[in-house]
Amino acid sequence: MAKKAPLISQRADTMQASPLRKLAATAEVRKKKGVHVYHLNIGQPDLPTHPDFFKAARAYKPKTIAYAPSTGLEAPREAWSTYYKKSGINFNAEDIIITSGGSEGIIFALEAVCDVGDEVLVFEPFYTNYNSFASLTGVKLKPVTLDIKDGFHLPSDKEIKSKITKRTKAILVCNPSNPTGTIFTKQEMKRLVSIAKQKNLFVLSDEVYREFAFEHKHTSIMDFPEIRQQAIVLDSASKRFNVCGARVGVVASKNKEVMAAVFKMAMARLSVASIDQEALVPMLKDPKKYTKDMVKEFKKRREIVYNGLKKIPGITFSKPEGAFYIIIGLPVKDADHFATWMIKTFHDKKETVLLAPAEGFYATKGKGKQEVRLAFMLKEKDLKRSLELLAMALEKYKG
Ligand SMILES: Cc1ncc(COP(=O)(O)O)c(C=O)c1O
Repeated sequence: MAKKAPLISQRADTMQASPLRKLAATAEVRKKKGVHVYHLNIGQPDLPTHPDFFKAARAYKPKTIAYAPSTGLEAPREAWSTYYKKSGINFNAEDIIITSGGSEGIIFALEAVCDVGDEVLVFEPFYTNYNSFASLTGVKLKPVTLDIKDGFHLPSDKEIKSKITKRTKAILVCNPSNPTGTIFTKQEMKRLVSIAKQKNLFVLSDEVYREFAFEHKHTSIMDFPEIRQQAIVLDSASKRFNVCGARVGVVASKNKEVMAAVFKMAMARLSVASIDQEALVPMLKDPKKYTKDMVKEFKKRREIVYNGLKKIPGITFSKPEGAFYIIIGLPVKDADHFATWMIKTFHDKKETVLLAPAEGFYATKGKGKQEVRLAFMLKEKDLKRSLELLAMALEKYKG
């Protein structure tokens, strides 16, 4: 008898598949049947990348495409430092390591501060891939649940501290937040800083949506000098410069031991694509020129989404303060079932909408069951139509 193949690892077995793509296959089937699908499920901006990116990529003509230094090429690293200084954050080139997207940076940072089994506090709902990064690194995420009724702002210090144990090494905070669109105020960030100081924790601050701040200015973890040695900024060019496929992010910190640890990991994966690093230099040197119009466009879309949602009876939401996402509470028992029905069965004039059920953004079982996340990645007319379809579907749905 033929032997069975050996089993895959438990880590791989228990790792989540991205819930964002869960319904994508069904959407493709539907499209083949001639139904137009509006994608409100995924955070890929629909706007064209600025031509200066391509110009810089073409202008980069080394004799050999060699490995870049593991920390990042010199000019791009300097350009990242310029970007930070222009954003009011005092990082020098040596405080920065360029990574393959923000994603790799998050993994490196978790590995740099945590051993297997250590815990990291996160505020749920959170960017769903944090779950996968935690699986990869053997880190346990300890969720502090935020409430849709409070606009997903922080609960009391007491509640946050109640989740901290002897194994807790860090607080991971995403500000502005994907998936809620919440911006934690300076006061809230100060509270986190105090807790981290008191409990001697690192703060991993995911600031990839820094520029997308519509209500009040975004507060960086680096705005608090008292936490500098415990602060690690996780960042990415993907969204702010609309270059998601370029795969360039950074880990930045004033803590030399942390950066030396991240450097070891960076050395093991050799380097980040040199062309992508170089192509970003003009954007990093003059960030406002490239982010201004993007931010304006998403601010406009936020108004459209907000005004459209106001017309739908029975749903719960707060106006997003930043990023380009919103979580809404639906008047249904099971938002996953509703989203599946919507993409599989529902249509109006051969059009439907793909939503992201919010359960995958929570670590606590059963949370987010009645919520979905919308990403405003469509143009005005399509956004309005999508919300109209959502309203119709909610009226028709008998879940
Ligand atoms: C909050 C947050 N952090 C990190 C990332 C990772 O981005 P990338 O790997 O494209 O830089 C994303 C991407 O959607 C995100 O939303």
